[in-house]
Amino acid sequence: MPNNIENALRDLISLLQVIKLYTAMHPRFNKFLDKAYESLRGVLINRQEVIIGIVGDEFVFEKEIFFEFSKTAKSTISYLKARGVEKIIFSGALQKEELAKFVGFLAGDSDKEEVKKNPQEALYLSGVRNITLGKLNSAGAVDSLSVAANKSISYLSLYESSLDQVTDSLDGVLGEQDLNYLPLRFAINNIAENMAVKYNEILKLITLKRYDTGTFIHLLNVSILSMYFSTKLGFSKEDVLDIGTAALFHDIGKIYISRKIIKKTDKLTEDEFKNMRSHSLLGARLLLKHTETLGVLPLIVAFEHHMRQDAKSYPKLSFSCIPHIASIIVSICDVYDALAQRRSYKADYPPNVIYDLINKEKERFFQPQMVSKFFSIMGVWPVGSVVTLNGGRVAIVREQNENDIFLPKVEIMYPPSRKGHMDLHQSQGEDRIESFVNPLRQGKGYLSMV
Ligand SMILES: [Fe+2]
Ligand SMILES: [Fe+2]
Repeated sequence: MPNNIENALRDLISLLQVIKLYTAMHPRFNKFLDKAYESLRGVLINRQEVIIGIVGDEFVFEKEIFFEFSKTAKSTISYLKARGVEKIIFSGALQKEELAKFVGFLAGDSDKEEVKKNPQEALYLSGVRNITLGKLNSAGAVDSLSVAANKSISYLSLYESSLDQVTDSLDGVLGEQDLNYLPLRFAINNIAENMAVKYNEILKLITLKRYDTGTFIHLLNVSILSMYFSTKLGFSKEDVLDIGTAALFHDIGKIYISRKIIKKTDKLTEDEFKNMRSHSLLGARLLLKHTETLGVLPLIVAFEHHMRQDAKSYPKLSFSCIPHIASIIVSICDVYDALAQRRSYKADYPPNVIYDLINKEKERFFQPQMVSKFFSIMGVWPVGSVVTLNGGRVAIVREQNENDIFLPKVEIMYPPSRKGHMDLHQSQGEDRIESFVNPLRQGKGYLSMV
């Protein structure tokens, strides 16, 4: 595969990511625009046009698939596909302004209904002549590969590619390398955007993934929960992304704590407790080196996320301090996910027990009313939970009722004769949830339906 095509595609992906984070007037955008335009021009020197197609989850060029990009391009590809773009043709006379307009068009206007119907016509009307959009089956060299196209966005692969990105970024911070901020922010942005449209799909992943003890699952879950919570609280998109990014780093200081202490399920000794509690200060110190790329919010949240209104609060301060609202949000989501992920020699905590535990302790939090708000949004039984109902029925929680956190909307799975959707709140006490079924144990048979 020609190197220059690969570079052009890489620069184009960066440009598509940048436009979602900055306006077209931002100097950072211009820098990326120059680079992408130069790379594309380099390719167009020897040919009349360059056709880039999207097949499944990959970019293709002249029947070759760019597998190397699978990780970085996944979110860009979902983004283009969601806007009906399966093929982009760049013609020889391409101008830089056209490239800027095209990228701006994808980021802004392409969401409008009339534009969705015919994106090519809308692009042409906006003055772009040397970039053509299309579907794979309309014409062109990539037609033969179109069979795998039109796959809908896989939320699980979105979650997993974000997890890869999070892992890379955290490794970067720990290895004291320069942090590649843009892909991280884009991964977070992509989750936030998809969540706005399909929040149930994303929240479902948390319910499932909490049984997966992968290193960074907790950080990504807390990040997603914090973004969902702050969106529902009415924060702006920019603030939601900042809170989500800060949440990703909240426990970064734990890397300095011995794994023996972190994994210990018995009661910690006084010394072990002291050691464990140092992670908020250690994390803040580490993040101090990255304020230029990450800003100060991750540092503040790492420092404050265990601050409470009682003696168990840490780090101990010699002055009174009310934590930042982002720290309060993250601290609630943190406790929620930590309890849900808890694996002990005893048993997992089912969601209703988690609700009771947090609710009992809510006065310790800086804003107890935020804890109530959290559960009014999340419900007691989170989306994707497998539960039993009275009468021996088994159901999956599909949607919350904000005015009744105990009775969500469910889909009955068993017995087969009773299959169907039901709003438990509407049944006026006749139907209720009796117990939680662990989807990886007794509820295994229902896993594919979740
Ligand atoms: Fe922590
Ligand atoms: Fe945590």
